[in-house]
Amino acid sequence: MEKFFLEIPSIERKKEIIAYLDEFVQYGSDINGAGSLAKIYDGLSFEEALDRCMKMTNEEFARSINRCPSKTFLLIRKNDNKIIGSINIRWNLSLEMLEFGGHIGYGIRPTERKKGYNKINLYLGMIEAKKVGLDKVMLDCDVNNIASDKTLKALGGRLTRTEIDPNDGILTNVYWFDVDETLENYKSIYDPYITNKD
Ligand SMILES: CC(C)(COP(=O)(O)OP(=O)(O)OC[C@H]1O[C@@H](n2cnc3c(N)ncnc32)[C@H](O)[C@@H]1OP(=O)(O)O)[C@@H](O)C(=O)NCCC(=O)NCCS
Repeated sequence: MEKFFLEIPSIERKKEIIAYLDEFVQYGSDINGAGSLAKIYDGLSFEEALDRCMKMTNEEFARSINRCPSKTFLLIRKNDNKIIGSINIRWNLSLEMLEFGGHIGYGIRPTERKKGYNKINLYLGMIEAKKVGLDKVMLDCDVNNIASDKTLKALGGRLTRTEIDPNDGILTNVYWFDVDETLENYKSIYDPYITNKD
């Protein structure tokens, strides 16, 4: 059985992380869930982007660049030690981010999609959300992003609003989750796919 874990990005995976991100670009896909790592496409070196990624867990630093603090993780498939996806957990959201944006962003590399991996990714993300003290989380998605919308429904998200996000003019579904309830309700389905790094 395939098993997965979340890992903090590190210099040891430099080549793999760049190849992972490049795959999104190659397939013309949005990069989501990679946090500051995606800054390599905004002029930062990999090392600078990684450093930014680590600093984003610091409230003071995040506020200094007008962002909310966050933690970024890579989804690793243990069987072949491959980066499959990424997930970004944000907390102490601004009022604007509580309306649209939300606590969690995620992505699965284009060549590994439609295998149920993002549902595992989000379940693991809920575990991390709990660790940073979140008991309720909001995620939103473009109503036309069927794969994301289905992921949110599959993990029991409650659709609370469908409105145009004024930031991009896109009709957006907003879902809320009770973290403990989600972990409890979906434990039997997703726990079997989860493992430790070692
Ligand atoms: C959204 C994304 C993370 C989904 O990843 P994924 O690993 O393919 O998703 P999963 O395989 O776990 O599938 C989740 C659900 O969506 C469905 N699904 C996946 N791709 C689909 C597609 N192209 N069309 C219709 N349904 C799809 C699956 O069948 C599953 O639904 P089910 O539980 O009812 O069976 C991936 O497409 C991605 O990285 N997109 C770019 C970044 C992005 O959009 N992030 C989210 C921003 S809100």
